[in-house]
Formats: sequence, structure tokens, C-alpha cells
Amino acid sequence: MTAVYCPDPEATEALGRRLGSLCQDGDVFLLEGDLGTGKTCLVTAAAAALGVDPQEVTSPTFSLMNVYHGSRLSIKHFDLYRINWPEELEDIGFSEYAGGDGVTFIEWAELFPEYMPEKYLELKFTRQGEGRQIELCPQGERYEELARGLIAQQGREG
Ligand SMILES: Nc1ncnc2c1ncn2[C@@H]1O[C@H](COP(=O)(O)OP(=O)(O)OP(=O)(O)O)[C@@H](O)[C@H]1O
Ligand SMILES: [Mg+2]
Repeated sequence: MTAVYCPDPEATEALGRRLGSLCQDGDVFLLEGDLGTGKTCLVTAAAAALGVDPQEVTSPTFSLMNVYHGSRLSIKHFDLYRINWPEELEDIGFSEYAGGDGVTFIEWAELFPEYMPEKYLELKFTRQGEGRQIELCPQGERYEELARGLIAQQGREG
């Protein structure tokens, strides 16, 4: 749909903060792209905007899921990179937690596309020069609106 170019980590953080400020209960975000493209960086900034101490946010590469408590919403942060089989998704209670209360961020969602909720905002990260291109692919009206909101704010901030 639309893409945002983030020339440096600060730009990824600014996008994450805007996303955090627009979050509503039940929102789901799929974060896709190579290792080290900024997915955790964006989640940390979004969580900070929701009132979570950034020090509390760590990559769930080994824990598979972290939960943070923001001032208005809780945040479930998954990383599916080390999950090999769908059975392991069941073991961590993925289908019960994803899209439930609070906001859900799923790193490496592209590994298990058939297990994702029906509606979500997909963010695809790719390296571009020194920076990152983040493509926004919304599924469902709520997320189309959210993507428009993100782009509009981006425009205002230059
Ligand atoms: N727009 C950007 N331009 C350049 N570097 C960036 C940008 N955004 C984030 N980074 C840097 O990329 C590095 C890796 O970020 P991060 O850990 O968030 O990646 P990740 O996508 O979560 O990786 P993984 O798949 O291993 O979980 C960090 O050092 C971060 O500062
Ligand atoms: Mg990560």
C-alpha cells in the first residue's frame, strides 16, 4: 500500500511512537523482514508511547513472548523466529493471546502466515541504503484507517 522511509533508528522510533499513540485495544501488528531491520526497535518505541519503560522491552527471540503493562493497554510481544513447528505455537498459547486483550506485536509473522488473525496491520521492513523502508499493508478497515493516520502524521512532521 504505502511505504515510509526511515533514514536512521530515530526515524524508526518516531514511527513506533506514532503507532503506539494510535493503538487501540485488540490491535494486531505483524512485523516482517530480515534480521536486524528494526522490528524490536519499533516495538520498543510503541511500548514507550503506551507508558512502558523502554528498559523493560527486550527481544523475545528466546522467551518467544513478553508481556508489558502500559498505562492504558497491555502489550504482548511475540518473536516467532525460533519456532519450528505449529505445535510450538500452541505450546506458547499463541492463538489465545494474539489479538486478545491489549495490543499484539508479532515479529517474524511471515513464518506462520496461516496462524495469523484475519485482520491486522502488516509492517514489512527492508534495508534501503543506510536506512530502512517500512511498507504498511493493512488488512481490514480499522487498519486502513490506522495506516492513513500514520502517513498523515508523517506528512505533518516532514
Ligand atoms: N531506520 C533505521 N536505519 C538504520 N538502522 C536502524 C533503523 N531502524 C533500526 N535500526 C537499527 O537496526 C538494528 C537492529 O534492530 P532490531 O533489533 O530492532 O532488529 P529486528 O528486526 O528486531 O531483528 P531480529 O529479526 O533479529 O529480531 C538496531 O541497531 C537499530 O538501531
Ligand atoms: Mg527483533
